[in-house]
Amino acid sequence: MKTLVAYFSQTGNTKKVAEAIYEEIAGDKEIKELSEVESLEGYDLAFIGFPVHASNPANPAKEWLEKNAAGKKIALFVTHAAPEGAEDLKAILERCREAAAGAELVGVFDCQGELADAIIDFLKKSDNPRHQAFAEYGPQTKGQPDQSRLEKAKNFAREVMASQS
Ligand SMILES: Cc1cc2nc3c(=O)[nH]c(=O)nc-3n(C[C@H](O)[C@H](O)[C@H](O)COP(=O)(O)O)c2cc1C
Repeated sequence: MKTLVAYFSQTGNTKKVAEAIYEEIAGDKEIKELSEVESLEGYDLAFIGFPVHASNPANPAKEWLEKNAAGKKIALFVTHAAPEGAEDLKAILERCREAAAGAELVGVFDCQGELADAIIDFLKKSDNPRHQAFAEYGPQTKGQPDQSRLEKAKNFAREVMASQS
């Protein structure tokens, strides 16, 4: 069984989760940036990770999934600045699943990731009150994903792998 871990990560959070997941995978495995993956040909299972941007799967990942996910066995991992369980995350995660429509989805993991300082500054300067409100998440995201979240990501990887054996 050959497993791929592929991620899109602008500020490094999703990459950390990708590396934690990768560590837990036994057997033939590869880890790559999503932009380096042309197709899922030759892989039995792929963990695909990306951040939430503007309440949606980040565009490069959305487009990649829409092109490559159908018919493939996929587990998604998603990072976001909102705290896990935040009300609007349900719909956001649903949109992540929709991007992978047609895939055999074997699991979805999500966790909080730090909101980069440059993004906080940008949001604070915005005229849009929703952006300004979102910047308030900034301080409580510092250091995420922390060790406990990375452990949860590893658990997720183990569960997905166990369900495939
Ligand atoms: C342009 C942009 C838009 C974002 N929009 C959201 C959002 O709508 N909801 C949210 O929870 N986090 C949002 N975030 C925060 C990121 O999802 C979060 O920081 C994520 O962990 C970044 O992952 P990365 O370091 O792998 O790029 C946004 C970040 C950026 C840069």
